[in-house]
Amino acid sequence: MTNQEMFDELNRFKKEKNAVILAHYYQRDEVQEIADYVGDSLALSQIAASTNADIIVFCGVHFMAETAKILSPTKKVLFPVMEAGCSMANMIDEIKLQEYKDKNPDAIVMAYVNSTAKVKALADVCVTSSNAVKIIKHYAKEGRPMLYCPDQNLGKYTMKLEGLKFDVWTGFCCIHHNLKPELVDQKRKEYPNAEFVAHPECQLNVLEKADYVGSTKQLIEYVTKSKCNEFIIGTEMGVIYEMQKRNPNKVFHILTEKLKCYDMKLTQLEDVYNCLKDEINEIVLDEEIMNKARKSLDNMLKLSN
Ligand code: 13P
Ligand code: SF4
Repeated sequence: MTNQEMFDELNRFKKEKNAVILAHYYQRDEVQEIADYVGDSLALSQIAASTNADIIVFCGVHFMAETAKILSPTKKVLFPVMEAGCSMANMIDEIKLQEYKDKNPDAIVMAYVNSTAKVKALADVCVTSSNAVKIIKHYAKEGRPMLYCPDQNLGKYTMKLEGLKFDVWTGFCCIHHNLKPELVDQKRKEYPNAEFVAHPECQLNVLEKADYVGSTKQLIEYVTKSKCNEFIIGTEMGVIYEMQKRNPNKVFHILTEKLKCYDMKLTQLEDVYNCLKDEINEIVLDEEIMNKARKSLDNMLKLSN
C-alpha cells in the first residue's frame, strides 16, 4: 500500500470508528501528517482528557499512551508499537520510589510525566516540561521537603532558575543528556546568526548557552515568534517538521544528528494503519493504579490552566 492509500483508509476508519489520532512532535513526519492533533506531552494529555472520540490512537511512547488511558479511562486507547518505551521512564520504579517515601514521609513527590503509571500513582503531582517550573514553585510555597523524579536535568534547571532546593532523582534522557556545551560553541561558530534553543532535559552547562529553553511546543512557538531567521535546535529532530511547516522561510539546523529518539521513530505509518484497522494493542491498566495516578495528573492539569 502507498502512503496515500494508507492516509485515505485511515481517514475513513477515523470517521467510521469515531477515532482520533494523537501524535507527539518527535514522531515521523508522515505520522504527524495523519494525526488529528500533534503536540507536546502536556497538550496531548489535555486533548486526551477532553476528547469525545471513542478510540484514541496514541503515536508516541508508552508512558504517553498510559497517560491518555488514565485521563480517558472509558475510551479505547490504542498504541501502535508496544515496544516504544522511554529510557528515562525506566530509570525509576515504584519499589525504589516507595523506599524513598518511607525514608522521607513528609516529602512532596513530583513526578515528570515521563514515568510509568505505577510511579505516577505514588506521586502527589505530575509535571511536564512545559509546566514544571510553575508547578514546582507552587508546591515549594508549602515549605515541605520535595522530590522531583526521575529527570535530574529538569530538576536541576528549575532549582537554579528559581533558587530552590529539593531532592532530584538521578534519571536522564539518553538523547538530551549526552549533548556537550562545546558542540553548541562549534555550531554557533558555524552559524553565527542563529539562535540556539534547547529542551530542559539537556544538562545545565548546555542550557546555560541557550537563547531559549522550553518544552517542544514552547520551542516551536518561540522560533515562530522570534525575529531571528535561523536556529540551532537542541532537542529531538522531529520538531523541525512543525517548525519548518509554520516558518517556511526560516532555517533550522539540528545541533547533532544524534538527536533522534529511536523509540519515537519506531512507529511507522503502517503500524498506525494496522492498529486502527484491527483495533489492536489496547492499553489496559489496573483500575486502582489508574485512579491513584489520575489524582496526580489532575493536580497537574488544574495548575496548568
Ligand atoms: P515534551 O514535554 O516537550 O513533549 O517532552 C517530552 C519528551 O519526552 C522530551 O524528550
Ligand atoms: Fe524519553 Fe528521551 Fe525519547 Fe523523550 S527523547 S521519549 S525523554 S528517551
